[in-house]
Amino acid sequence: MLRVSLLSLCLSVVAVASFAAAPVKIKDVAPGADLVLEADAKIKALEEALSSADKYQEAKAGPLGRDAGVLAALSQAILESEEKPAWKAAAADVRDGAIAIGNAKSFEDAKKGLDGVKAAAAGTAAGAKPEAEWNKLGKLGAVMKEVNARNGKLRRAVRKLPEKDEELAQTARDASVLAVLALVTHEDTHEVKNDADKPLWQQQSKDFQKEMTAAATAFKAKDLAGAKKAFDAANKACNECHKKFRDKE
Ligand code: HEC
Repeated sequence: MLRVSLLSLCLSVVAVASFAAAPVKIKDVAPGADLVLEADAKIKALEEALSSADKYQEAKAGPLGRDAGVLAALSQAILESEEKPAWKAAAADVRDGAIAIGNAKSFEDAKKGLDGVKAAAAGTAAGAKPEAEWNKLGKLGAVMKEVNARNGKLRRAVRKLPEKDEELAQTARDASVLAVLALVTHEDTHEVKNDADKPLWQQQSKDFQKEMTAAATAFKAKDLAGAKKAFDAANKACNECHKKFRDKE
């Protein structure tokens, strides 16, 4: 009896250890409802990119991998969220559909992935398992392109807060998406060649996340000074990480 329970205890420890969940509580990173809005926007972009074979070929050379990777990361955040965002129960299926689109070798395969994404986002779970490795959701280079695009929008917004409420809300969501993408960089340490430097990479990713979370809150509160302070601190983390790990030799 004791033997059996010890064995099952060991097995469950192994199972938990092999699932690298996000390093922080998702609700402390970004509001679940905002992540759903941003994931829905990515689903729309993917639908547009897969609306014809020609558009697919065009997108494949451009934003397709990036949109699929960001959707996968947002879905993983939605499913790990301690809140109850819309389609949380089917978020693992959205994630796997997005990963399938990113890996597709043909238009047909990509469309199959999209069908899975759409069915899941409409609430039909197909039984994908919740566990996923955050470092396998998107490619770091593609994630960085998205990071750079959204960071550029924030740079304009900290010069002058957007006047319209909807634009301000979008800016706050841009910061929230950046905070989630920081969870991907935290786990994707393949660029760190020396193990002893891993804590530094992860600290820079954590700073990037925390400051982007703070920026989102400040934008929502129309707090320009707070948003600028957080934006500058986040960008210090970008620059220090690039200096140490990207622009080396
Ligand atoms: C923890 C480390 C780290 C942080 C934080 C980080 N980056 Fe990066 N970034 C990298 C690495 C490594 C690469 C090279 C990736 C590659 O080419 O595969 C990169 C690449 C880039 C690129 C080039 C992408 C391309 O291939 O076109 C841009 C632009 C970029 N980062 C912008 C940013 C911005 C803006 C921030 C902060 C808002 C940021 N990064 C935060 C590590 C980081």
